Amino acid sequence: RSLHSAATRGASHLSRRGYASEPVPERKVAVLGAAGGIGQPLSLLMKLNPLVSSLSLYDIAGTPGVAADVSHINTGSEVVGYQGDEELGKALEGADVVIIPAGVPRKPGMTRDDLFNINAGIVKTLCTAIAKYCPHALVNMISNPVNSTVPIAAEVFKKAGTYDEKRLFGVTTLDVVRAKTFYAGKANVPVAGVNVPVVGGHAGITILPLFSQATPKANLDDDVIKALTKRTQDGGTEVVEAKAGKGSATLSMAYAGALFADACLKGLNGVPDVVECSFVQSTVTELPYFASKVRLGKNGVEEVLGLGPLSDFEQQGLESLKPELKSSIEKGIKFANQ
Ligand code: NAD
Ligand code: LMR
Repeated sequence: RSLHSAATRGASHLSRRGYASEPVPERKVAVLGAAGGIGQPLSLLMKLNPLVSSLSLYDIAGTPGVAADVSHINTGSEVVGYQGDEELGKALEGADVVIIPAGVPRKPGMTRDDLFNINAGIVKTLCTAIAKYCPHALVNMISNPVNSTVPIAAEVFKKAGTYDEKRLFGVTTLDVVRAKTFYAGKANVPVAGVNVPVVGGHAGITILPLFSQATPKANLDDDVIKALTKRTQDGGTEVVEAKAGKGSATLSMAYAGALFADACLKGLNGVPDVVECSFVQSTVTELPYFASKVRLGKNGVEEVLGLGPLSDFEQQGLESLKPELKSSIEKGIKFANQ
């Protein structure tokens, strides 16, 4: 791959101090579902990322407009829109990172699992194409239910003979983003310095924020921790209800998706100590997939980190989430193999 500096890509908005003059490799990022509620702002944010040299925007419809719009932004990456099945291969060829926010969102009263019937098929189709056109890409799965769509992707890749557990990620960054925001509010500390790991999965009680490990430390009462945990677990529903039938989180998700993709790109580029929570193949518990802190590197997952010490409340939460997470994983595996 040829080397360019982030500065020569004209990345005036986001070029990072101490980074801008260092050479960075050419990187192609594909967004599948790019014309959607998440896809559009996510495409915007990826256009602002100086680590991206080529931005490929795919959807079943609407991508020529989104691509034309985003392409006028004066950052260095090239933007191309692809539309419809017949252009999916071109959209994916050469991609280093593929971000998938394709599929239907929830309406009030629905669970993420209610999306399974439609989104499982979409994810299966897209992952079949990834196996064919960019089998070595890092896949960032946003489409819900993540607890099932990640196992579906893994099974599709296994069948195609391309599966590499280091390259498949369920994006749970929004749970971390929410946990940080809610914690900072209660602990009355500046949110920019807050860290909270969130483990488990990405639906209801399977989302387990570890506030006992939150930094900076704050002596919050047990009932406050309980309320913070519940709010983090119900964060998606809070947005779905507030949007009242017009979909689920899109803007905060685009931010979270852009953060996670940026971490993947930094890892690929050899930046040390890039750690994010993600739902990955795991031996941290007896479940085959589990979200925990993951160190990212040149091959994707460098190391899946353990849970660390849990409070009694978190230990109980961990045991309670396992049956639901197990059954969502199994549902995905079964679907992909039928
Ligand atoms: P949306 O309906 O606004 O957009 C989805 C897009 O996917 C549409 O543009 C649609 O045309 C496209 N699409 C449908 N089938 C496709 C296919 N076969 N190939 C390519 N594109 C296809 O929905 P949204 O609000 O952007 O949400 C998308 C998904 O992300 C939903 O499943 C939602 O539940 C999920 N989501 C996940 C998280 C998370 O934290 N992981 C957060 C928010 C939303
Ligand atoms: C979220 O957490 O916001 C997403 O998973 C979307 C949803 O359905 O809640």
